[in-house]
Amino acid sequence: MTAAPPPVPLVDLAWQHAEVAAEVEAGFASVLARTAFVKGPEVAAFEEAFAAYTGAAHVVGVANGTDAVELALRACGVGRGDKVVLPANTFIATAEAVDRAGADPVLVDCDPTFQLIDATQVAAAVAASDARAVVGVDLFGQCAPLRELAEAVAGTGCAVVEDAAQSQGATSDGAGIGTLARIAGTSFYPGKNLGAYGDGGAVLTTDAELADWVRTTADHGSKVRYQHELMGMNSRLDTLQAVVLSAKLARLDRWNDLRRTAADRYRSALADQEGIGLPATAPGNVHVWHLFPVRVAARDAVLAELHGAGVGAGIHYAVPIHLQPAFAHLGHGPGDFPHAEAAAREIVSLPLFPGITAEQQDRVVEVLLAAVARTAG
Ligand SMILES: Cc1ncc(COP(=O)(O)O)c(C=O)c1O
Repeated sequence: MTAAPPPVPLVDLAWQHAEVAAEVEAGFASVLARTAFVKGPEVAAFEEAFAAYTGAAHVVGVANGTDAVELALRACGVGRGDKVVLPANTFIATAEAVDRAGADPVLVDCDPTFQLIDATQVAAAVAASDARAVVGVDLFGQCAPLRELAEAVAGTGCAVVEDAAQSQGATSDGAGIGTLARIAGTSFYPGKNLGAYGDGGAVLTTDAELADWVRTTADHGSKVRYQHELMGMNSRLDTLQAVVLSAKLARLDRWNDLRRTAADRYRSALADQEGIGLPATAPGNVHVWHLFPVRVAARDAVLAELHGAGVGAGIHYAVPIHLQPAFAHLGHGPGDFPHAEAAAREIVSLPLFPGITAEQQDRVVEVLLAAVARTAG
């Protein structure tokens, strides 16, 4: 009897940790010796390095990506009773951030090719709702059509905000995250392209005033200790997380190259295969493949076969925002955003991470092709 091939996880963070372990250990030891666990100098050093890396000029570390998007929206003046336009196909956090800023989400559909917000729907949605902001989500690792969004809202006073949780290292016509929108929020959740060892996030912007407002608000509304000039919150990036993030940032380009190589491998192995839709990169975008979602008709059966064979595929995301019970109050129903709903039905994310081997990918492809062939028709 031949042994079953080893399982392939959706994400393997151990490989990344092995690369940075020594540096992280030394950095942690230094922080532990000094006990500057909050607002230690490592945080400012990471913020500066990430600003230089993205070109966004100002980076403010915060507690997580959801806070980052909320703070980005509020920095643009979004508040109670305002409307914010966002795509129906995103992780729940984008919509939560809108709600937590006090605003009501106004959903639009995605385009069927890239599954990014359909910029052609945005001008009408903004006009109809008098929206204060529109959120372009850099879904799966490529930039939303931020220039098109800026054109769609030109002259309206509606701000373009970027949810860059999935796109560290991505560019659009050479421009990095946080440089094309008025302001961006990103997440350092461990599985992200730039992931911490716990929760973390950052706000990025080229606007010094917005950055200053975010920094003050996220630190209890205070610039000077025990003086609170505005109503704040506690949302700061821990010093220990900054140590991890600096170590990983130095390797991010190489790791994103490895993701691109892995994505190319999937593309050539799956090209022209009946019944499998491959993800596409929008013109001008450099994709960093946070996820590699393919589309198959009998998704649930295919997913069950992948899992049965030890392939850790996932669904991002199974239920669009307008069909989530938490957003039932928006009053939407099935059929309202057909492209988002079709994606939710058909999508399956294949394992992809820096360090995935050609053998692991061959195994994923073999199981996927067999599952699709079996479930066809
Ligand atoms: C598109 C998107 N927005 C926002 C977030 C929220 O980030 P966090 O989990 O760090 O709060 C995430 C990731 O979790 C995300 O994928």
